[in-house]
Amino acid sequence: MADLWQNAMDHAVSAARHAGEVVREALRDDRKQTVMTKSSSVDLVTQTDQKVEKLIIQSVKEKFPTHSFIGEESVSAGEPLLLTDAPTWIIDPIDGTTNFVHTFPFIAVSIGFSVNKQMEFGVVYSCLEDKMYTARRGRGAFCNGEPLQVSHQEDINQSIIAAEFGSTRDAETVDKIFISLRRVLSLPVHGIRGAGTAAINMCLVASGCVEAYYEIGIHVWDVAAGSLIVSEAGGVLLDTDGGPADLMSRRIVAANRRIIAERLVKEIETFSPIRDDAA
Ligand code: IPD
Repeated sequence: MADLWQNAMDHAVSAARHAGEVVREALRDDRKQTVMTKSSSVDLVTQTDQKVEKLIIQSVKEKFPTHSFIGEESVSAGEPLLLTDAPTWIIDPIDGTTNFVHTFPFIAVSIGFSVNKQMEFGVVYSCLEDKMYTARRGRGAFCNGEPLQVSHQEDINQSIIAAEFGSTRDAETVDKIFISLRRVLSLPVHGIRGAGTAAINMCLVASGCVEAYYEIGIHVWDVAAGSLIVSEAGGVLLDTDGGPADLMSRRIVAANRRIIAERLVKEIETFSPIRDDAA
């Protein structure tokens, strides 16, 4: 199957590049984007998200008609979110939709590919930076063809941590987010950052720019591709409860080293959003 998956990965790279052109074109367009909301008033979606997802899925279907899909906007439109053993494309057409709406310059197209529930390749295209991050299982991670390597730092006090706050705004959740932030900041760490896209945060871990990223509330399409890019760059993935990473749990810690991941987990006030695979 090796060559078949390489064909699929080559297709993912060209589909992500094309999607990036559509995103850049939409940002150049003077007409204002129509912004709609999904799970909450701050969970945004635009026609460009929907258009890009359709373009990617259509092009994949033409080449790989038997493959399955999990796409952020298809699931929002009522398609089932089902990860089976089948070759499955896990797509976030615009990771960083809020950034896109506000022209904050970190926006990614994220395409993961899983077979037997194992990630085979991941492609994250940071479209405004023109950075194409890729990883294939067992073959390393790359940015624009250059190999990626996580940071060697083993001391969390010498680290930068990326964190995001998701789109849930109920008081209980916000309090937990603040408890975690306060603890992490007070360790102390050198700094806390957030690109506004899970996929790019994970690529920053893979690139060695930040030691770790954590978030509760993400979905499988936000982290599927990035998770392989992190692990192929030598990094570690955990659940925020300290257990093994589970792409359906909506909780992720991605770090350069296990020691950093485990130290971070101690500071995170974890909670359990409804799983992506809940019936
Ligand atoms: C969002 C981004 C953001 C993260 C949210 C995600 P979207 O993805 O990755 O950084 O905080 O949890 O939902 O909605 O822009 O595809």
